[in-house]
Amino acid sequence: MSEKRSSFTGKIGFVLAAAGSAVGLGNIWRFPYLAAKYGGGIFLLVYIALAVTFGFALMCAEIAIGRKTGLSAVKAFGALNKKYSFIGWLASLVPMIILPYYSVIGGWVAKYIAVFVSGGAKAAAGDEYFTDFISRPFEPIGWFLLFIGFTALIVLFGVEKGIEKVSKWMMPLLVVLTLIIAIYGMFMPGAMDGVIYYIKPDFSKFSVTTVLAAMGQLFYSMSLAMGIMITYGSYIKKDINLETSVKQIEVFDTGIAFLAGLMIIPAVFAFSGGDEAALGKGPSLMFITLPKVFESMTGGTFIGALFFIMVFFAALTSSISLMETVVSIVDDKLGWGRKKTCVIVFIGSVVLGLPSCLGFGVLSGFSIGGLTFLDMFDFISNSVLMPIVALLTCIFIGYVIKPKALTDEIELTGKFKGKKLFNVVIKYIAPIFIVLILISSVLDALGIVKI
Ligand code: PHE
Repeated sequence: MSEKRSSFTGKIGFVLAAAGSAVGLGNIWRFPYLAAKYGGGIFLLVYIALAVTFGFALMCAEIAIGRKTGLSAVKAFGALNKKYSFIGWLASLVPMIILPYYSVIGGWVAKYIAVFVSGGAKAAAGDEYFTDFISRPFEPIGWFLLFIGFTALIVLFGVEKGIEKVSKWMMPLLVVLTLIIAIYGMFMPGAMDGVIYYIKPDFSKFSVTTVLAAMGQLFYSMSLAMGIMITYGSYIKKDINLETSVKQIEVFDTGIAFLAGLMIIPAVFAFSGGDEAALGKGPSLMFITLPKVFESMTGGTFIGALFFIMVFFAALTSSISLMETVVSIVDDKLGWGRKKTCVIVFIGSVVLGLPSCLGFGVLSGFSIGGLTFLDMFDFISNSVLMPIVALLTCIFIGYVIKPKALTDEIELTGKFKGKKLFNVVIKYIAPIFIVLILISSVLDALGIVKI
């Protein structure tokens, strides 16, 4: 990336590449467990409301910054205003934190491919199977190394294009498969209560943490507030309509997350009657619930294997974009050359990922504020850093370079229909809202007020 700034070959190329980065474990693994934990329908509602306002405005903004400057995040902020290049630096911390633990979960997905392919579907449906697996000292490390090693090899040898080709037809297949599993699951006895829980907002479950969780998830899922979309924007040609592209990416990303929730939450109800403990399973939810669904399905072993293979590819296109970003930031700064940087980023990520990997077994005694290492890294990046980066980005655009600098860029291809919304969100709604959410969640965490 650092050598030559190539452009995407047209609109579809860009939308697909951005969707490849956006659609991943965030949609299939993270969204459903958050929705389950934070009240179902109310979380979904808050998420969608944020997606069409914050998500839309921020994604337009980031892509426009990239295209306007032709630079990646770190340099782009500095190029627009020297004093503000620190926002780019802060943003680039995010993928460095996410990549290691993302790869731990990518490793879990790889393990489940192996389990289903080798006929272990029945065992995997057992209650203790997953907990037993992640608490082992060595096996999860092996899978983690496999996933991150694979990612590193692809980045090292620059064969992302090949992977993109594969995932181009895998993605639609993933959607179809998710739909089939969701429909099957919805008809299991007891599942309808889960569908209602997921779709119908229960306002008594609304809290500040719901909003913070939804906001963090939005940034994470759409690969926002970490500089990635700025870098992607820098590759797009001037004749591409940014607004339509953003809308397409959003619909795609949110659609897959919605379907994943529909696939998992009703199934939790079918198998456990929807008790709190089952809904609050967190990061393990997908790995505990889905094998049970597959076991009850005819041909479930095959469908399960196919499903995990596709999730693997979706995760891989995201982890590649994460590693690409980290490598180009480090290489730009230190000038070690791509190969060497890649190896060093790999080693650094392995070291950072080990605590997340071991946090469910060997290191489970070291929880910080009740969070495992993986949850803690996840919390720092998604609930702390990303909202801060998003806040700074909005202030920077709203008050330093002024929204017009970007709306002009977006209007190069014609009318910007969401311009009013864009201005209001960037200048007023998002900054005020993010500050309020951050303050109240800190107070909440400190136990000062209960919201
Ligand atoms: N958006 C990706 C997902 O939903 C995760 C990701 C985050 C990818 C940040 C790249 C950068 O899985």
